[in-house]
Amino acid sequence: MNSLNNYKELSITVADIVQEHITKWPVTNIALPTGSTPIGMYRELVGKSNGFEGLEWTYVKTFNLDEYVINPNHEQSYHSYMKKHLHDKIDIMPSQCHFPDRNTKVYEEKMRDMGGIDLCILGLGTNGHIAFNEPGSDFKSRTRVVDLTEQTIVDNSRFFDDVGDVPTQAITMGLGTIMDSKRIILMVSGEHKLNILNVAMNAAQTIDIPASVLQEHDNLEVYYCD
Ligand code: GLP
Repeated sequence: MNSLNNYKELSITVADIVQEHITKWPVTNIALPTGSTPIGMYRELVGKSNGFEGLEWTYVKTFNLDEYVINPNHEQSYHSYMKKHLHDKIDIMPSQCHFPDRNTKVYEEKMRDMGGIDLCILGLGTNGHIAFNEPGSDFKSRTRVVDLTEQTIVDNSRFFDDVGDVPTQAITMGLGTIMDSKRIILMVSGEHKLNILNVAMNAAQTIDIPASVLQEHDNLEVYYCD
């Protein structure tokens, strides 16, 4: 695990990884997370994309890890989140930006037919979830519709006016889908997640802690800050 000094450093470190990746492999598929953790990383990427000789997104395809079962135009949808933090601020066409929907098989086929995910950036939920793979998710699961746990609904209620407004279902890449990525970066911010992170990375693997599946990945890097 790489411990960084602060959130700014975490954001810069992961943005640098994405930049180096795109510079080396301009034609690439990248899986992207939402939540509060990656906001700083997106801010850094936007900065890198808009200067003279900025980062080129022309041949990049983005695949979001997950989305609520919600109107995509809702201000708290992950479509809206990505527009706000990245897609509307860089030179990328909507046709390059992919999100899971109820046609889960189509999403899987799309990723496979386009050559698979080369780089996957992940966040971590306080209950050990990755994307919206809640505790109990099969390690081989694929993109599917899931019910959110009470814990996740409460955690994510900070983005909504009322806890009752948080969607109870989501569509998520599965753990098997994520594990097929060629390289995975897990970014974690906050001391309140340190314990679950340590358990996920070092204790025996269990479906009760979905992120523990990542122990089996041979190209995983973990970046943490308090
Ligand atoms: C949500 C997302 C996850 C994300 C997690 C952590 O539930 N579906 O992909 O990793 O929240 O969010 P935060 O970074 O806000 O703690």
